Amino acid sequence: MTAKPAEISVDVEANIAAICARYGNRSDALIEILHDVQETGGHITRDAIVGIAAALNISRADVFGTLSFYDDFRTEPVAAGMVKLCRAEACQSVGADALAARCDANGIAHETVYCLGNCALGPAAMVDGRLIGRANEEKLASAVRHAKAEG
Ligand code: FES
Repeated sequence: MTAKPAEISVDVEANIAAICARYGNRSDALIEILHDVQETGGHITRDAIVGIAAALNISRADVFGTLSFYDDFRTEPVAAGMVKLCRAEACQSVGADALAARCDANGIAHETVYCLGNCALGPAAMVDGRLIGRANEEKLASAVRHAKAEG
């Protein structure tokens, strides 16, 4: 039997084990597992990295390498009202870059993502998981205010 890392709490360990077990503890499912862990906890903690590595029988460096390769994974909690702004081609063609500049000018914190699956309604954005089509700075500012009031 493999020794359990001492720093993992029982709750985190059980949660991580359950998520990894859903994928048969397969290391080739690491990306899906990381998505599920992030969806559950909002971000991927150090404990989660340790637990995933143990469950999949891979190194912590392997888990961290994959996690750090993809922009969408987070190791820190996200503040309420974070805007994801699509800068992929379809959204760029309808003004995503100009919208990003206006967000900067208006103090709307945002991060760039590449395609939110809402290409027909670009520029597309997402605020705390809520998709916003034909985004403009007024819509985004309103969504951020709403998210912060709820969060
Ligand atoms: S290109 Fe922006 S949502 Fe697909």
